[in-house]
Amino acid sequence: MFKFQDVTINKHILLAISGGIAAYKSAELVRLLRKQGAQVRVVMTHAAMQFVSPLTFQALSGNPVHSELLDADEEHAMGHISLARWADALIIAPATANTLAKCSYGLADDLLSTLYLAATCPVYVAPAMNQAMWHKTVTQENIQKLKSHGVTVIGPEQGDQACGETGFGRMSEPEEICRYLMFEPTTQCLSGLKVLISAGPTREPLDPVRYITNRSSGKMGYALANAALKAGAKVTLVSGPVALTAPINVDVVNVETAAQMHTAVMSKAEDHDIYIGAAAVADYSPVMMEMQKIKKQTEQSTLTLQKTKDILAEVAQMTKRPFTVGFAAETHDLEQYAQNKLVGKNLDMIAANWVGRDIGGFDSEQNALHVFWKQGQKTLAMTNKNQLAEQLIRLISERMEHRTT
Ligand code: C5P
Repeated sequence: MFKFQDVTINKHILLAISGGIAAYKSAELVRLLRKQGAQVRVVMTHAAMQFVSPLTFQALSGNPVHSELLDADEEHAMGHISLARWADALIIAPATANTLAKCSYGLADDLLSTLYLAATCPVYVAPAMNQAMWHKTVTQENIQKLKSHGVTVIGPEQGDQACGETGFGRMSEPEEICRYLMFEPTTQCLSGLKVLISAGPTREPLDPVRYITNRSSGKMGYALANAALKAGAKVTLVSGPVALTAPINVDVVNVETAAQMHTAVMSKAEDHDIYIGAAAVADYSPVMMEMQKIKKQTEQSTLTLQKTKDILAEVAQMTKRPFTVGFAAETHDLEQYAQNKLVGKNLDMIAANWVGRDIGGFDSEQNALHVFWKQGQKTLAMTNKNQLAEQLIRLISERMEHRTT
């Protein structure tokens, strides 16, 4: 028996079941994943439904089972692209020789293989088949191809097989698969590094009861703190007022105003290897805060504001400065503004996103980023903020390595 670590997880796991006798083990896998706090959605091929009833998985996962690619009702409820975007991880278990071959060749003739193609999250496969089928050259070639595409292969194990033969091909035990999914050995790409992140909005007081603020929820900054922690970094989070709980093991400094955020970040920046300015810092704050509540005496009222200090630009100007990453939330001319900020603020990288649209941006669960650095750019497609944060952390580590070499 292995013991899970004591951490809170809210992972979205998409379990795809292809047609092998090991499908019965996937029922236990759903139970274990849910016990660990994951949300599970199940996709079955027609062959898989011959082995275990979809009702079993519906009851265990608490969600309807998906099986049809071209079903008007299912597409309306949660179509294949939404399912793929929903997932933090896709696990194909059991993965038959046929399913592995289809995935390795990029076929998309049913829901499972189409989801594999549409997935942008980490993909895992747990092969299960007769030992001779497993050892067949073409199966091994397909496995190598999938590995080279970034797929993690779990198992198979050696032992007695349902067909009566003995050898490699048994699907790994559900506990083993669960451990991979929930506590995957993450690439410790920031191991030994110190990361400083600023997150959330700031509040600029007008009087004792009123302030100016913005729509930032802090979700992106907190997701980055989590991802950096997972990647092995020591993390400090300077946070504006948000309704989020920071991950344990993160050193949190709570602030309210842009000025307080400036003081906190500047006092810590030199001691860190990376600074990510994910906070929506107020650009202006009232010239003075009234000591008493402002009364509504006049028909019109004018606020006099002054520019706040640009924390990000100041960090990037330091002599001994961390690798500095900024954010740019734009309603128009995204690339132009992002490139201007990259150069103007002397940043190493800038992650730009659209705001004020139907999906993504401030206070949304999802986002997409267009990341720019001096020699290049990369688009991180629309996905949930946890996954996006992990992708951005990987990109930061790659660019840092590149800078060092
Ligand atoms: O210049 P703009 O506010 O559009 O740039 C956004 C980036 O600058 C974000 O990374 C934000 O955290 C940072 N910023 C800052 N200090 C300010 C204003 C913005 O660090 N006063």
